[in-house]
Amino acid sequence: MNSALSANIWFGPQASTVAPSVDGLYNFLVWISAFFFAVIVFGTIYLAWKYREREGSKPTPSPSHNTKIEVIWSVIPGILCAAIFWYGFEVYMDLKVVPRNAYTVEVEAYKWGWNFKYANGGQSNELHVMAGTPVKLVMTSKDVIHSLWVPDFRTKQDCVPGRYSELWFEAPEAGEHPLFCTEYCGKDHSNMKTKVVVHDDPAAFAKKLREFADLFIDPDNPDQRRTHAQVGEILYGRNCKSCHGNAAGADVSLAPNFYGIRMGDKRKLSDGTEVVYDENYIQNSIWNPGSQYAAGYENAGAMPSFQGQLSAEYVKAMIAYIKQINGQQ
Ligand code: CUA
Repeated sequence: MNSALSANIWFGPQASTVAPSVDGLYNFLVWISAFFFAVIVFGTIYLAWKYREREGSKPTPSPSHNTKIEVIWSVIPGILCAAIFWYGFEVYMDLKVVPRNAYTVEVEAYKWGWNFKYANGGQSNELHVMAGTPVKLVMTSKDVIHSLWVPDFRTKQDCVPGRYSELWFEAPEAGEHPLFCTEYCGKDHSNMKTKVVVHDDPAAFAKKLREFADLFIDPDNPDQRRTHAQVGEILYGRNCKSCHGNAAGADVSLAPNFYGIRMGDKRKLSDGTEVVYDENYIQNSIWNPGSQYAAGYENAGAMPSFQGQLSAEYVKAMIAYIKQINGQQ
């Protein structure tokens, strides 16, 4: 019906394929209600005034039956109820029947946030999707009942612990839309506000998903899916294992243990100074090992430089692996 009005006054923009029909149904119900409200209220006032008690008037005996009026007031509302049912049923089916080719994103709601999981293993706390693609959310909750609501899409569904629920939408255009939890779930319920980002550039969308998966893209084998930490583990086995340990109690006679030191810790160097053990230190130790010997290894000198052999991306993988064995993200 009046979608421009509904978009501007009752709701936000109509940003999904089902939004216009949801608004249409809503407006249909509102205007029917407004019409009958007016007929009944003003009719009552008018009749009360017209048949008010006048001097000398006698009460009219109540009519007991009027077939014509009774048929009218049964058939017209009957038709309206059937129309409301049919309209509502159609919109409900549009909202509930997920298109077969839908792109699936898993949703895990928790106190107090969202975890969106994509097919490539990536995760994010904002929902990223492609414009013009039906998206199916397979949703559950880690703890209590939450409810995912994107007002601009006119669609909402509970996320229930211990079971899966589904919700789908298709956003025809690129844009950003707020996403809320709409089930009161505890003190930080209101912090569950995030957003849906609708992309129209497939390359930008793919890049985003790669970022979420923190995927290590091997130039020789771009389809292989590994995280940086997994690649770091392989590099460790190839290049570091013979001297550096990776667990508690490892032999440290040749080189410092990768286990037992965390990002941000201090490291004593052989020249008596201290440095912060961080990404820069690790990168420098890989590319330029002779420049910063750890205290106690001044005579080691055996570690070759991996500059030119291990690119920045591989160094990133080593850093991810070292963080992982020390329980850091
Ligand atoms: Cu989650 Cu409210």
